[in-house]
Amino acid sequence: MKAIIPAAGLGTRFLPMTKNSPKEMLPIIDKPAIQYVVEEAVNSGIDDIVIVTGRGKEVIENHFDIAYELEKILEERNDKEKLEEVRKISEIAEIFYVRQKMPLGLGHAIYVAKKHIDNETFAVLLGDDIIVAEEPCTKQIMKAYERYDASIIAVQEVDKKDVTKYGIIECEEVDDGVYKIKNLVEKPNIQEAPSNLAVMGRYILTPSIFGCIEKTKPGKNNEIQLTDALNLLLEKEDIYAYKFKGKRYDLGDKFDWLRINIEMALQREEFKQKLMELIRKIANEK
Ligand code: UTP
Repeated sequence: MKAIIPAAGLGTRFLPMTKNSPKEMLPIIDKPAIQYVVEEAVNSGIDDIVIVTGRGKEVIENHFDIAYELEKILEERNDKEKLEEVRKISEIAEIFYVRQKMPLGLGHAIYVAKKHIDNETFAVLLGDDIIVAEEPCTKQIMKAYERYDASIIAVQEVDKKDVTKYGIIECEEVDDGVYKIKNLVEKPNIQEAPSNLAVMGRYILTPSIFGCIEKTKPGKNNEIQLTDALNLLLEKEDIYAYKFKGKRYDLGDKFDWLRINIEMALQREEFKQKLMELIRKIANEK
């Protein structure tokens, strides 16, 4: 299976940082967000990845390219550990790039990768969503696809007060944690939300979605919304939602970025104790 990673959005929630730097390159301690996303795809068995980029996103391409001068210097210094780490990034997978010339919405970003997909079912991993899980989230939904032979959307329960931030599904549970979708609503208000099951940035989509995106008119924020295209797909095919196991962070959101950095640092021996001491000290001062 191939994967599309849309990474061409403007990232307006993370300004001013994102004025001239992609949010997909925000560091999680010492690794850019999009590398985690690519690694998730690779760890799910995907080795053909197309990243959708746009203006100012060239650093993403450079990150996954060979850094010849850097490698040469590390070689001269005989720094094998760093050299291996740097080389691994450029060898991680076969990565292709397509450019979304204008950020016309997530549905549109997926559509610009159509030519690369060849009428096959494919995975979508949003470039600014990180999911930490024992079994990669994409692998979990690929397994659900094998069982149901239909498009699968990764979902998780959110607090009722937070439904306004997500795509929310109306559905019927067909198995433990598996739902047949009846309708999708983009960022509903609390009264209108049909459930508290929110779409979380990982999808397996059949190629019929492309025809549906073609028919989708600009919706919320004047963008071609994937949610609207999925509602059109529902008229032709079943779509299921799968409640995955794992923790999701939205790097478009400043607090989630702080949270993932602290939580990841607490898992690293080199930082754990020092960071705990700092947190206790700050808490005592408050
Ligand atoms: P978001 O809605 O989170 O990204 O899209 P955004 O539009 O950049 O964010 P804000 O709201 O302005 O802060 C989810 C993913 O889809 C990509 C984004 O790069 C992100 O990875 N995307 C979004 C595109 O590739 N193209 C678009 O036109 C819109």
